Amino acid sequence: MSRSDSPPAGRLRVAVIGLGGIGGVAAGALAHAGHHEVIACGRRRLERMTVDLPDGSVEVAMTVLTDPADAKPVDWVLLTTKAQDTDGAGAWLRTLCGPETVVAVMQNGIDHAERIAPYAGEAKALPVIVYYNGERIADDHVRMRHISDADIALPDTATARAFADLLTGTPINPQITPDFTARLWQKLLINIVVNPVTALTRQRQGVLQREDIRALTTTLLEEAAAVAEAEGAGLPKTAAADTQRLVLTFPHDAGSSMYFDALAGRRLEADALTGAIVRAGEKHGIPTPMNAAMLALLRALSDGIDG
Ligand SMILES: NC(=O)c1ccc[n+]([C@@H]2O[C@H](COP(=O)([O-])OP(=O)(O)OC[C@H]3O[C@@H](n4cnc5c(N)ncnc54)[C@H](OP(=O)(O)O)[C@@H]3O)[C@@H](O)[C@H]2O)c1
Repeated sequence: MSRSDSPPAGRLRVAVIGLGGIGGVAAGALAHAGHHEVIACGRRRLERMTVDLPDGSVEVAMTVLTDPADAKPVDWVLLTTKAQDTDGAGAWLRTLCGPETVVAVMQNGIDHAERIAPYAGEAKALPVIVYYNGERIADDHVRMRHISDADIALPDTATARAFADLLTGTPINPQITPDFTARLWQKLLINIVVNPVTALTRQRQGVLQREDIRALTTTLLEEAAAVAEAEGAGLPKTAAADTQRLVLTFPHDAGSSMYFDALAGRRLEADALTGAIVRAGEKHGIPTPMNAAMLALLRALSDGIDG
């Protein structure tokens, strides 16, 4: 583990954009720890939030802004919208980011810095891999579950160590990892299988056990692993087969983020996941026809939902 035990000396201003599963937990846990000023940036006014943390439930007072015009530059921004909502959160980033701000991008995918670049000015991007499960139970109620020892993974940089320190006193357990890029890709490989297949079939993860679906996911993973190798992601040669084996151990009754978004009629995180494979494949001249087909279907589903 990689943060000091004592709380950081200075009180910092921390803005959390998005109060869903991940952001609600982060904002609530930071506010409960009490070391920093937490400004929640959401679409609905709230005064309090109940946060079910692994050690018990807490109720925290929340300062929630709903208009980016009311915000000013802060030390840290935690961006926790779904990746497809980054554009929508652009107005928040523009007002919250100054030259000294760091934006911890707590979203899935691999293009964290590129995603915020149009809005964040000189602010620095810190990519974060989120492992904890955050569930929104109601607008003012979220639940955190630990899924593994590490709740988030961070690259081995001074900025990442500062972020780990920021989380002191919260149950969000950071892990600084020298193989951060490989971890990003490992998670991406899981996500380009579990999310699209469950969303498109509107079935929980048991669908991954079907023989015909296994043939499909094997191809998706082989394409993705070839792209990862061209990107220098540092994955083992067995990455595709390892991921296939792993996803088959996931609980059959588990949904996925994209599955729940599809059922709820929300737009899908397709471009940040499957789209990342297709874009990187095009860059390296590696064909990814099956992922491209999935992307077309996901975009059509997402746009249909939107329209
Ligand atoms: N949840 C998990 O367990 C988990 C685990 C690992 C990784 N992730 C990743 O973490 C990221 C966040 O996921 P999530 O599950 O927390 O998503 P989520 O529950 O859908 O929450 C996203 C939040 O962003 C808010 N939002 C969207 N546009 C906004 C805007 N313009 N201004 C302010 N708020 C805005 C939404 O507001 P509304 O309430 O108004 O819609 C919602 O509260 C995603 O990339 C996801 O893939 C999630």
